[in-house]
Amino acid sequence: MIAELFDRNLRWAAGRARVDPEYFRRLASQQGPDYLWVGCSDSRVPANEIVGLDPGELFVHRNVANLAPPQDANFLSVLQFALEILKVRHIIVCGHYGCGGVRAVLSGQRHGLIDHWLQPVACLCRRDAAELDGILDFDARVNLVCERNVLAQVESLADNPFVRDAWGRGQALSIHGWIYSIQDGLLRDLETSIETVADATGRSSAAPKVMRGRPRRGRAE
Ligand code: CO
Repeated sequence: MIAELFDRNLRWAAGRARVDPEYFRRLASQQGPDYLWVGCSDSRVPANEIVGLDPGELFVHRNVANLAPPQDANFLSVLQFALEILKVRHIIVCGHYGCGGVRAVLSGQRHGLIDHWLQPVACLCRRDAAELDGILDFDARVNLVCERNVLAQVESLADNPFVRDAWGRGQALSIHGWIYSIQDGLLRDLETSIETVADATGRSSAAPKVMRGRPRRGRAE
């Protein structure tokens, strides 16, 4: 089972080199991604593949329920490196419908350490409890919290000192909130992009009223 992965790696590397002989030499010399991706660890949401980017084009951080926690040394190290060394121009927080982390919170059951990690999601659920209680379908409730969680992470990032410092230095930096559907493979833009300190200031932290996720009709380029 494990040996199979090495075999697959050999085939993959050979295939890449066949299509583009300079591929690995070019990648080895530097990485210069324009994007930082903050996504869920869920194996069905492979960051690069979804957006059709090659290795080297997307700096990736993944954790359960795509959080951007302001006290997590792992996340903050990634964020600082992305902003100060790689100078990415976009941070994409990408959630996904049906997220297991969100389901765990809404199930109301204890799961162990993960309950601590997911506490920010639990706080969101408490904030929006009245509205969530009115949604009878469990999956619909999960999906709404998945969206709200993305928005919360975007807002948290906009307050992050590393992000504030980047804007203060005049760095071009936008933060985007997207959500992905495993059902159809499509990304939805939650239309919550923040591009400047001015955008970030004065935003309401109240819950948005409607589900806004819909497939983005991007330009075919
Ligand atoms: Co998930």
